[in-house]
Formats: sequence, C-alpha cells, structure tokens
Amino acid sequence: MASHARFSFCDLEPDAGSFLEEVLAGLAQPRKTLNPKYFYDERGCELFEAICELPEYYPTRTEMGMLEEHGRDIARLIGEGCALIEYGSGSGRKTRALIADLQPAIYMPIDIAAAQLRSSARRIAGIFPRLDVVAVCADYSRPLTLPQGERLKGRRRVIFFPGSTIGNFTAEEAHEFLQHARRLAGAGGAMVVGVDLKKDPGVLHAAYNDAQGVTAAFNLNLLARINRELGSDFDLAAFRHHAFYDAGAGRIEMHLVSLKDQRVMLNGRAFSFRAGETIHTENSCKYSVAEFQALARGAGLAPEYCWIDPRQLFSIHYLAVAA
Ligand code: AVJ
Repeated sequence: MASHARFSFCDLEPDAGSFLEEVLAGLAQPRKTLNPKYFYDERGCELFEAICELPEYYPTRTEMGMLEEHGRDIARLIGEGCALIEYGSGSGRKTRALIADLQPAIYMPIDIAAAQLRSSARRIAGIFPRLDVVAVCADYSRPLTLPQGERLKGRRRVIFFPGSTIGNFTAEEAHEFLQHARRLAGAGGAMVVGVDLKKDPGVLHAAYNDAQGVTAAFNLNLLARINRELGSDFDLAAFRHHAFYDAGAGRIEMHLVSLKDQRVMLNGRAFSFRAGETIHTENSCKYSVAEFQALARGAGLAPEYCWIDPRQLFSIHYLAVAA
C-alpha cells in the first residue's frame, strides 16, 4: 500500500455497484440523464486533460494563472500547516501551484478516478518530501467521512475545490454539497472554490463546442464506457454531441442526441430512443460573484475574499466556516 513513508492510498470503492444502478435509473426517466461524474474512466481523464489544453477552453489556464498569481495571498488567508483536502484532484497541476505557496502539513486529494488519483498524488508526494499525502478514492458528491482522522487532528481543514466542478451541481445540489463540505471542514475551517463566471454566450458556446471535437469525444466516451463496463450495445455513430448555453438557467447543458429511432440493451433491459431524443449528460452552471456568494452564505459559509482574472472569465472564492 504505502510505497512512500509519506504517501498512502485509501480506496473507498466509489463505483462498486452504484454505476449500473445509476445508469439504469437515469435511462429509465422520461428525460434520460447520466451523471457526469462517470465521464472519468481512464480514457475520459485523458480526454478531459486534452480539453484543458484547447484554445477555446479558457477555465483551466485562467484558474491556473490566478493560482500562480494569488497563491501567496491565499496562503496568507489560510495560514501554515493546514490539512488541505482537495475534491476532484484530477491531474494535480493546480494543486502543485497552491501547495508550493501554502505549505500544508497534510494533503488529502479525493477523487473518483483511482488510477489518475494514485499517479498524481504520488507525484506530489515526490515533489514535496515533507508533505504527508493521503489519497482517498471516493465519491465526494455524497456525504463522506474522512479516513485517517488522527492525522487531521488539531489541523485547520481547508477544502480546495477548483475547476468550477461545482458547476456540475444544480444550485439546489450545490447548496447541499456546500453544507456537507462546511460540516467536513468543521469549526475554523475554510474552502477555496473555483467558479466559472457568467459571460458572453459565444465564449461559453465555443468552450463546449471546440473545433477539434475533443469535447464531443469526451461526451460520447460515456457511452463507450457504459458499453465496456456494463455490457450495453450503444452505437456511438448513432448519437451526436450537443452543447448549448441556457441563459435563463445560467448553464451549459451537454446532451447526446439520438440520430434515429433505436433500441439499446443494458442488463437485459431494452431502452428505446426516438430520433432527436437526448440523454442529458452534464450541467455546467455559471455564477456571478454575487450569486455564488449568496449560495455560500445560504450554506453557512462566509465569503471573505474573491479573486477575478482581468478578463473576468473566472473567479476563486475564499469561504470561511461561519461561526
Ligand atoms: C470539470 C465540470 C468543470 O463543466 O467545464 C468540460 C467538464 N465538460 N467540457 C466543465 C467539461 C465539457 C468541466 N468541469
């Protein structure tokens, strides 16, 4: 298990059983849906990394630049020696920038994608030899009890949730999620949350409809994964990527559109699709600073600081657990 004195890996087996159940339930609804957390199998992680490099996809490079520029200010607000808990650590590139400035005592990345989590957490343990790294493979979208509680004792808990992944939740889901996060951070704790801003719909549209079709491949890979892992027979050529900005709801929606009347078999059940019918695969909610601050306050978190890049594309919020 521990390949490094300062590295351990704890697998809470987030997918066991629930993947099939959730897919069956999502496809049985009158408006079919799939949960975007299932995008991230190994191929999905690769495709998402490729999305982050796309010229149209501004969030990653914007937030990365902001963390490099403001890391020391963030560190000053938090103080040294905290327990840094990261939700959805992904490749770990952003975290490296933050850890260098923050000097936490413990780093606990939590991610649903086991292979990527293991390699990126191990890399960070190698770069920061005095840092205690405890990788936790788990689904943070559900209430969660942290393992290795003794190692967190007496440490200020700071939850880092970058990338605007919070946008995957609807506002109601985000409210619940932030309440759980507040409880997990506990008294004296804080959160650092990256949130994509509302902006020109043309910029948003381009970011989710890239010219190279990487986002389309990422969306369609969800069906490939379901075929591979759950034995269904989705015909990938019979579905098309569709992403659009709904200005009223303030969110990008991603769908997979059935190109014809068809039937798909999964676990002995038939699911029929009409031509033009869609599977809703992702929401990516966008917030103004005031909207997100109101959401945070409603969940018992005090918005104490907010950074915005000069082009006003992206925001990073510092939220303290309200006394
Ligand atoms: C990882 C959820 C923040 O919503 O922008 C990127 C995922 N989907 N392109 C986002 C995504 C399509 C991404 N998040």
